[in-house]
Amino acid sequence: MTITLTIDGKTVTAEEGQGLIDVANDAGVYIPSLCYQRGKPCLGTCRVCTCKVNGNPVASCTIPVQDGMVVEVEEPEVRDMRKALIELLFVEGKHNCPSCEKSGRCDLQAVGYETGMMVSRFPYRFPITENDYCSDKIWLERDRCIFCQRCVEFIRDEETGQKIFNISERGAKARIEIDVELANKMSDEQAKAAMDICPVGCILKKAVGFDAPIGKRKYEIETVRERALRGEHK
Ligand code: FES
Repeated sequence: MTITLTIDGKTVTAEEGQGLIDVANDAGVYIPSLCYQRGKPCLGTCRVCTCKVNGNPVASCTIPVQDGMVVEVEEPEVRDMRKALIELLFVEGKHNCPSCEKSGRCDLQAVGYETGMMVSRFPYRFPITENDYCSDKIWLERDRCIFCQRCVEFIRDEETGQKIFNISERGAKARIEIDVELANKMSDEQAKAAMDICPVGCILKKAVGFDAPIGKRKYEIETVRERALRGEHK
């Protein structure tokens, strides 16, 4: 059934039940996102896609559209909420963009630019974590993980469907883990897919450092906004 809603005052038609973030992007309204990937089940872990629906803040990737919905994306309070969430992600880990292999193709860095973040309003946590170099093709820079769970859900052993990545512990002790036996069975393509699906520089492929030249990386050619508006969320 076709329904009508408004997004930042603009009347938009959509099919009932479509995801709000997709409807907004298709209507030319960019909503930042990190854990969401169009066409894949929604994870709802990062909340960076928060906007107001009928006056209440909600994660737009988790919400199906309904007739008469009033959606605010660029309203100042909710814009600042998204910015604060991104600032929190920066201070919870160690994100030294100039020295990171993922710079220029990092989703967190890209949405940081989009939201105009210059510095975080929150104190830095400077976590001390142990990197994991145990598998043949992948290493984990654990202090960059934002716990989006993309790798956990979407990178699986091709034969058994078992999870290769997982998260142990909770809260401040949470950390990303890799099943070394399954990881060592990954093809080069799957290892690259794991690196690409990571929205930060946590999952890195060994032996190919800086394979994409700086200046020609995806967010140096096209902004995260431009990619999202044509349906690319990674
Ligand atoms: S919760 Fe919507 S993009 Fe992460």
